[in-house]
Amino acid sequence: MTSVLSRPCTPFAPVSGTDLQVPLVQGGTCTYANFDYAASAPALAAVTDRIADLLPFYSSVHRGAGYASRVSTAAYEKARVTVADFVGAQTDSVVVFTRNTTDSLNLLAGCVPGDTVVLDIEHHANLLPWRDRRVVTAASTLAETIDRLEAELAAKPAALLAITGASNVTGEVLPIAELAALAHRHGARIVVDGAQLLPHRRIDIAALGVDYLAFSGHKLYAPFGAGVLVGQRDWLDLGEPYLAGGGAVRRLSVDNTEWAPAPQRHEAGTPNVLGVAALAAACETIAGFDDAAAQNQEEELSARLREGLAALPGVEQLHVWTDAPECVGIVTFTVAGRDPGEVAAYLSAEHGIGVRDGQFCAHPLLARLGHPAGAVRASIGLGSSSADVTRLVDAVAALVDCGPKWNYTEDSGWWNPVPDPRPFPDLVDGTAGVGSPCATPADDQRDVTAG
Ligand SMILES: Cc1ncc(COP(=O)(O)O)c(C=O)c1O
Repeated sequence: MTSVLSRPCTPFAPVSGTDLQVPLVQGGTCTYANFDYAASAPALAAVTDRIADLLPFYSSVHRGAGYASRVSTAAYEKARVTVADFVGAQTDSVVVFTRNTTDSLNLLAGCVPGDTVVLDIEHHANLLPWRDRRVVTAASTLAETIDRLEAELAAKPAALLAITGASNVTGEVLPIAELAALAHRHGARIVVDGAQLLPHRRIDIAALGVDYLAFSGHKLYAPFGAGVLVGQRDWLDLGEPYLAGGGAVRRLSVDNTEWAPAPQRHEAGTPNVLGVAALAAACETIAGFDDAAAQNQEEELSARLREGLAALPGVEQLHVWTDAPECVGIVTFTVAGRDPGEVAAYLSAEHGIGVRDGQFCAHPLLARLGHPAGAVRASIGLGSSSADVTRLVDAVAALVDCGPKWNYTEDSGWWNPVPDPRPFPDLVDGTAGVGSPCATPADDQRDVTAG
């Protein structure tokens, strides 16, 4: 394989799992090569350190008078400022902590006073929540797609344009500032689904003109279950409280409810203090990186992966647009004659490589791109190395040249090596194979769509 890299790349930052040894079906073990960052990224070492430091102080937040409660409350509330700074939010913006991007977009959907315009390329999390949604079909060029959005917004007023920052299927990056200006020209606001953009690019929402931003901690190297919705206060203060319960009201009598303003209005119940602290730690750590160097390394690794796959016969990479100027480190491909599930099972079982297969919760896009049965997605992150990329390209090349060395069968949508002798570690019962790892009589029809 010809390399486009001028130097070998080691992981850009320490993350959990880079030395993980995984079993192979043919016997022995190898170091896990993680190409599934776009689904959930491993924890930054700085994040796990922060959580270990905070754990002794972990306690209830807001109402507790104890010292540990005060420390936990301070960590939780300071995280709002850290997150707001990280994304360049206006000083009067509200930061609401949620579980993830899906939660954030559902929350906002309950506050939108009118129609929402979306593209058909979106993740289901940015399609399904919008109650009055108008879906615009993307064209084969980004320029024509933006014209179509403009025509839709001009034809009929909408309250919101909901757009992803980067496609979770192809990695293509959208021109956020241009789309924000477009929305505002037509009297709409803009929300950016930052789930895939933020792990790869710094963003300044005030400078870009973004009204709302949603993202997930678990994709931003803080896999402890917190997400964010940040943006303008007025809709969030007036909208339906997302969760009704303790903490969301100013005053409550049997006959009358006086809801609190945002963010408390939407954060009823005991919040995820450790998740929020982890997310803040991730934001602080990433803010300290040399952005240009991180982006440069990711682009080198992506280029090498794209170039390596492009040289293989029968391997096709997916793109939405012919004129997209920029991609984050997500490369999605198909292998002629092979089910994506089989390719993913082969990469895992014979090469210790973790990728994602399926439709990535983007059914309309995969169908329109002519791949309703899905594809294979390899995503790169801060722990990726050039050695990982070489392993992936070589493994796909071996599959194309010689086929798999093991048998693979599909059972209820799950492809598995047969037999699968790989043991799970003691902390989990069972072996790695035989149907869905979490199959139960009720869920044995695998959702091959999850992304
Ligand atoms: C672009 C995009 N938006 C939204 C989501 C949903 O994120 P979460 O599952 O963290 O809610 C994902 C998840 O893969 C995504 O890729």
